[in-house]
Amino acid sequence: MDLPENIHTTRLAGRVALVTGGGGEGEFLGLGATTAILLAAQGAKVGVFDFSQERAAHTVALIESFGGEAVVIEGDVTDPASCVRGVEQVVKTYGALTTMVNNAAIVGEGGTIVDGDLVNWSKVIDVNLYGVMHMSRASIPAIRAAGGGSVINISSIAGIRAMGGSAYTVAKGAVQAMTRELALAHGREGIRVNTVLPGHIYSPMGSSGGEEMRELRRRSGMLGTEGNPWDIAWAVSFFASDESRWITATELAVDAGTTQTTAMPMFKYTSVIE
Ligand SMILES: NC(=O)c1ccc[n+]([C@@H]2O[C@H](COP(=O)([O-])OP(=O)(O)OC[C@H]3O[C@@H](n4cnc5c(N)ncnc54)[C@H](O)[C@@H]3O)[C@@H](O)[C@H]2O)c1
Repeated sequence: MDLPENIHTTRLAGRVALVTGGGGEGEFLGLGATTAILLAAQGAKVGVFDFSQERAAHTVALIESFGGEAVVIEGDVTDPASCVRGVEQVVKTYGALTTMVNNAAIVGEGGTIVDGDLVNWSKVIDVNLYGVMHMSRASIPAIRAAGGGSVINISSIAGIRAMGGSAYTVAKGAVQAMTRELALAHGREGIRVNTVLPGHIYSPMGSSGGEEMRELRRRSGMLGTEGNPWDIAWAVSFFASDESRWITATELAVDAGTTQTTAMPMFKYTSVIE
């Protein structure tokens, strides 16, 4: 696996992180896996929590390949008891929990509010919204016990713009509302809670559609280039570090400016192929 340059630092030494949906496969990794790898490369000890034991083990093996510390935690964010067990496992392994990254999510089948399938709607809300709540309820007491820390919730630009997958969009918007409530409730305990909003990222989740989609992704942002999962991981590592010590309840769009313009001007520009 090719790691980004200058990835290894001690900036997160002493941190213990739990990353949901941190599993991956092969060389083409999602946002959770790259985040877990980057946090570990910067000195954090990482619990890689995933529905799939195999995917979590893949990320852990990649972390161990450069001497980082990580542990596989098989779990399901839709199950409150599983979230509690995941937090207990990381605390038992590394002595504390300081950093929670709520990344696990599913796209679901899409559909409008009127026509979408109700079973699918519930499933998406269950993973993408209730999953963040269950994990917050499990992890925040542990972060409080550690004397404070940082929670980073991965939303999407779909949380602030209509994107056509209604359950996904509604869940992501609600995650942002939940972030603000958590930040207010736990700020005095030294716990910061922020949201990262990935844009149109070239990742396993966002890779369908081939070259045509890649071109649309490039053209949708002001920079004319495509974002990748490492772009999100760097934003998470900023929120995990003391560099963001006075930032809470905020939303950082990592989207090449996509959500700060409208479609019309973007039609004028061609992409920049990297
Ligand atoms: N990829 C993009 O373009 C993009 C854009 C905007 C936002 N996001 C957000 O970024 C985050 C990560 O996306 P990704 O592209 O890495 O996705 P991904 O599908 O590659 O990774 C998600 C991981 O979550 C795990 N998972 C799914 N359900 C789970 C559950 N119930 N419990 C535990 N683990 C579970 C999966 O096994 C998988 O390993 C998501 O929150 C997604 O909504 C992604």
